[in-house]
Amino acid sequence: DDVDQQVATGALPDPPRVDELVHEAHRRYVDDDDGTVADYIPALAQADPELFGLAVVEAAGAVHDAGDAHRLFTIQSISKLFVYALVVDELGHDVVRDRVGVNNTGLAFNSVVAIELNDGHPMNPMVNAGAIATTALVRAASTAERWERVREGLSAFAGRQLRLNGEVYRSEADTNDRNRAIGRLLRSYGRLDGDPDDVVDVYTRQCALDVDAHDLAVMGATLADGGVNPVTGERVVSADVCRDTLAVVAASGLYERSGEWLFEIGLPAKSGVSGGIVAIAPGKGAIGAFSPRLDAAGNSVRARRAIRHLSRALGLNLF
Ligand code: DON
Repeated sequence: DDVDQQVATGALPDPPRVDELVHEAHRRYVDDDDGTVADYIPALAQADPELFGLAVVEAAGAVHDAGDAHRLFTIQSISKLFVYALVVDELGHDVVRDRVGVNNTGLAFNSVVAIELNDGHPMNPMVNAGAIATTALVRAASTAERWERVREGLSAFAGRQLRLNGEVYRSEADTNDRNRAIGRLLRSYGRLDGDPDDVVDVYTRQCALDVDAHDLAVMGATLADGGVNPVTGERVVSADVCRDTLAVVAASGLYERSGEWLFEIGLPAKSGVSGGIVAIAPGKGAIGAFSPRLDAAGNSVRARRAIRHLSRALGLNLF
């Protein structure tokens, strides 16, 4: 990449310049075809690999969309960071730290070995075990209520009503033996209350919410803006919760690649197997990117490259 690293200034360039840079980043990678579309959830294999959306939403409210920024895809693992924020907002820093953890496992997102190596502790909310344990902490009298609270909460981050992709949900629910095994393993260690299959069902639904790259940028910008959605003006979570969430996301959002990501890009970010990535620049805004072709760790290749480029061009690296 031939863009000089700008030293972070505390401010973004003027909105018209940000707009130019977002479109320039999109043009730069539009022909990039490295990586492979996920197929372990059968419905995901049907994604159009050519789709490429990029969006920036500023904490001050300006929005910048390029390419397929309004094409829907399922949020998948990116849901984990927003459900985590909602649960920390409800239960507080200490309870969630003890119950779910904040340290990287160094292992893949769906590792069972990581649970066994740590006395049944889920380790952090960004891997499947920790995300399932986090969803179990959402206060609700029934599974239906738990799902509705998660959907409403993520919708507040996005500033619009998010809807379930029924086809992807059913496809994953029919094939997610591994996540059900993780739920039961946590339960066997006394780390998960309630029926593990019901909790995994809500987790599977939250992963199958449809979003677009623009939504991801709005959701991330809400965390960048101290918990206030910069487009709707609604407070979704407290500023303390944003700080906690972004720390955990920086450490584990890209799983076993999180150190490499921080080294190259210098922003907390979260990926999903549909090809979405959100990267958050505290106080400034967020980048949402979508391209279905993934690397071996399950992270979108083109989304990573476009975010790396924009992080440099916009001077966002935290370090
Ligand atoms: O639980 C799963 O396997 C999927 N619903 C989500 C995995 C995911 O997005 C991993 N991210 N890169």
